[in-house]
Formats: sequence, C-alpha cells, structure tokens
Amino acid sequence: MRIIVEKDYKELSKKAANILASQIILKPDSVLGLATGSTPIGTYEELVGIYKKGNINFSEVVTFNLDEYYGLDSSNQQSYYYFMNKYLFRHINIKTENIHIPNGRTKDVDLECRDYEERIKAAGGIDIQLLGIGRNGHIGFNEPDVKFEALTHLVTLDEDTIKANSRFFPSIEDVPKQAISMGIKTIMRSKKILLLASGRQKSQTIYEMIKGKITPKLPASVLQLHPDVTVIIDEEAAILLK
Ligand code: F6R
Repeated sequence: MRIIVEKDYKELSKKAANILASQIILKPDSVLGLATGSTPIGTYEELVGIYKKGNINFSEVVTFNLDEYYGLDSSNQQSYYYFMNKYLFRHINIKTENIHIPNGRTKDVDLECRDYEERIKAAGGIDIQLLGIGRNGHIGFNEPDVKFEALTHLVTLDEDTIKANSRFFPSIEDVPKQAISMGIKTIMRSKKILLLASGRQKSQTIYEMIKGKITPKLPASVLQLHPDVTVIIDEEAAILLK
C-alpha cells in the first residue's frame, strides 16, 4: 500500500484528481470505478476543473459506480445516479451509454447483479477504482462480516451506515435499508485502487485498515492483499499512524 498524507481535504482532493486525470491522459478509454459520499466530492470538483481547462477528455471514458440504494429511482435526489450527475457527469463530455450505475429499481436483483458483473468484464475490467471508507470499515456497501468472495449483490445496510447517511435524507426513516453494491471480489479485481479518507472521525478506521489484521470485521482490511493500492488521507485522518 502506498500511503500519501496531504495537509487537508483540499490538497487530498487535488492529489486524487491528478491521479485520475493522469490515468485518463495515459489511457483515454480508461474504465473508472467511482464512489459517492462526501469524500470524493472535492475530487470530482477538481477533476471538472481540469476538464474545463481542456486538459482531459472523457469521450472514451467508461465508468462503473460502486453502489446504488435499492428501491430508489435514478431521478430521486437521494439516488447515487442523481449525485453523480450533480457532481461530475453533467459537467463533462462523458457519453451517457458509458455510464454504469446499478439499477436500484430493478425487478430482478439477481439478474441486475449478474449483468453488472458482465458489463464490467465486457468493458475490460476496472482500471482504477476510487473508494471512500465508512467508519465501520465498509467499502462500497460491504458491511462488517462480509464475504470476501462476494461479487455484486444486494446488501442490507448496517445501523451505523443508515445513521451516517441519514444526513442526506429528510429523516432517518427515509434512508433505504438495502443497496446493490459491488462485492469485495469485484473491487479486488480492479487493476488499481485509490482510497480516500478525510477527518479525525476516520483515523481509527484508517489505522486498523493499514496496521490491523485482515478480517471481514473490517472489510477494507482486505485491501492489504491488493498489489496496487494508493491511500490518500489528510493529516487528521492520519493522526494515529504517527
Ligand atoms: C459510496 C460508498 C461508501 C462511502 C463511505 C464513506 O459510494 O460506497 O462506501 O464511500 O460510506 O462515505 P463518506 O465519504 O460520506 O464518509
């Protein structure tokens, strides 16, 4: 694992955007794995800035998002589809047909999950997967006690995660209890992984992910086994690593 500590969230976001931009410059038809949540918002803003300066072109880029709430329509303002449009897709020249997000309103979950895996495979696999991390160590929506061999599947969200994500919803009752998420195996198949974490509230989780033992109790610990992981954290998130 390569650990990069940046001064603050702004610097972390710039660094992550630069890594994604260079990936696109080196391979214009890159397959990007993308994440939602608060952490990557700054990265997307920086990436849009680089695009607006004319330095990168998304016309050949293909994207796969990690997850989507089960039961939410793509037009729902809390859906990850909506989020991705708001922060990234509507600002860049990506082709709509190159955007992939699990369909939260599917009538056949198993088929949707199998099809998602097929689409990733048909695209040639994910070149670089962007990840945030939950305080309970989840990546995607792979909650503690996940099976490391899982592919894209329907997950039931932890109480912790529902609580953390309720900040985006009118009330905690409105947070969906399930999501369709890439599995740990899907994530581990990515050629490169870029994990971001910001703030002191993530410091314990980051410490355990890097220094702790590999266990399904902290799903992100599995990343210790991946050959090409870059972790970008700010000083607050790195506080326990000193
Ligand atoms: C988002 C996702 C989640 C988040 C994690 C951290 O697509 O899969 O694993 O990355 O919950 O969220 P934030 O960044 O809001 O702390």
